[in-house]
Amino acid sequence: MSTSGSIKSEQPDDTQNTFSEVDIESGANLDVALKRTKKFMVLVASVAALGGLIFGFDIAGAGATFVMDGFKHHFKWECAHDAINCVGASQGTMDRDKGLINGLFGIGAAIGALLNSRLAEQFGRRITLGLSALVFIFGASIQAWAPVMQVMWAGRIFSGMGIGMLSMCSPVYIGECAPEHIRGALGTLWQLAITIGIVLASAMNIGLAKLDYGWRISYGGNILFAVILILCLAFMPESPRWLAAHGTEEQVKESLSKMRFEDEIDSEVEKLQHEVEEERKLGQAPWSEVFSNKNLMRRRVILGFVLFAFQQLCGINAVMFYAPDILNTFFTESQAITGTLVLNTINCLSTFITVATVDRFGRTKLLTLGGMFMFPCLVACGILSVVEQTQGVGYAVLVFAAIYIIGFAFSWGPVLWIVIPEMFPYRTRGKAVGICVMSNWIFTTLVGAVFPVASTASLGACFFFFAGAIFVAVGVVYFFQVETAEKTSEEIDQAYENHKPALKRKDW
Ligand code: BGC
Repeated sequence: MSTSGSIKSEQPDDTQNTFSEVDIESGANLDVALKRTKKFMVLVASVAALGGLIFGFDIAGAGATFVMDGFKHHFKWECAHDAINCVGASQGTMDRDKGLINGLFGIGAAIGALLNSRLAEQFGRRITLGLSALVFIFGASIQAWAPVMQVMWAGRIFSGMGIGMLSMCSPVYIGECAPEHIRGALGTLWQLAITIGIVLASAMNIGLAKLDYGWRISYGGNILFAVILILCLAFMPESPRWLAAHGTEEQVKESLSKMRFEDEIDSEVEKLQHEVEEERKLGQAPWSEVFSNKNLMRRRVILGFVLFAFQQLCGINAVMFYAPDILNTFFTESQAITGTLVLNTINCLSTFITVATVDRFGRTKLLTLGGMFMFPCLVACGILSVVEQTQGVGYAVLVFAAIYIIGFAFSWGPVLWIVIPEMFPYRTRGKAVGICVMSNWIFTTLVGAVFPVASTASLGACFFFFAGAIFVAVGVVYFFQVETAEKTSEEIDQAYENHKPALKRKDW
């Protein structure tokens, strides 16, 4: 194809173009011109990422309530100064309650993630996003109202289920709507939203801690985002990939016309139709195919499952859920909440590194580099946990925790949510992603439930365990994970087939 000469590219709608005018004089410039992104596409991904805001707000909200007087008095962990005939709870009861609040949430989320793979396939990604938000609203309302701890536990199961459903569906939806050249950056919006939710909740917690009913807002404030998500769904297009398999050509075109430029639509419709035809020849993918060795599916599912397990076993949620508790051993309650806000802000800001780099550098390099930041910090925290617990040691823990979080926030946090939906062909994507996301929640639950007890026994041992996990995790990525950046679904299939673990990676 000749690309010489000066061609002014057509601007189908200059209010929506991220490039005002593109001069095409060479093949390289043509490449740039083809990498245009409509603003509406970014908006669609941002709205879907609202699910992440709900998720993040919960992570930081629940953890902080454990040190709020209003919460402790309401659930009789501690007696208010004017309480009559009150006996505070034992450390064992509080550890059990905390473990169940986090653990039941995780179990609900694991169930939700698996359930949703079916719903998202049958009813489409868009409707399922709405349904997920509704389930969350139901659970969060119960939590915010909870008169006794048992009701709180029931609410945790449903709010967890809603968030598990969202965490299966939102990344898949974003990945299927996004054009390849910017799929990583748009996928990062999911994680960015999680971290913004965390910051928002931890900032609000400073004020909420002073109110008797503040904990209710910590558990229910994110209902607002769920409502916004449901309202925005009215103008969101269905995933063109889902429509290609379940709808008409007209519907695919209509959906694409909102997210692509006029001159990109026909070729994309053709590409999607080709993929769908290939899949139709093979018929519906049953569950058995997800675990079969056809297309290396079993190996990919195990890899995705293991990667999400490691994302949790490296201890991120021990920090996210219990940072106020950990810091409370060195500092006062309000200093602990402020310290948590600092860590959470660092978590959010560091995610921008991924937005800028994930499509250029690729997924595997970021995962490896992130692990290299996290490992030494975890070892340092382990050592600091076994020496005398002074405030100086507390500050050192805070610094190492901050570097650890930076490492996580530009790598294992966002990148896995992008990579997992990318790893699977459309035929099996819903089911396979459901299983992998379920792994994320199973291990979130395990860490959430075990950490209070394990850290009371030995905080140092917990940090050493997390360090060991990230060490092995980096090895798994280095040897087994293929690079998926900027590849089509078919190219990714081929990359898995051709991949051979080697000491020196050929694609780096
Ligand atoms: C993880 C969450 C974690 C969050 C922290 C996400 O990628 O899946 O478990 O709490 O990052 O930012």
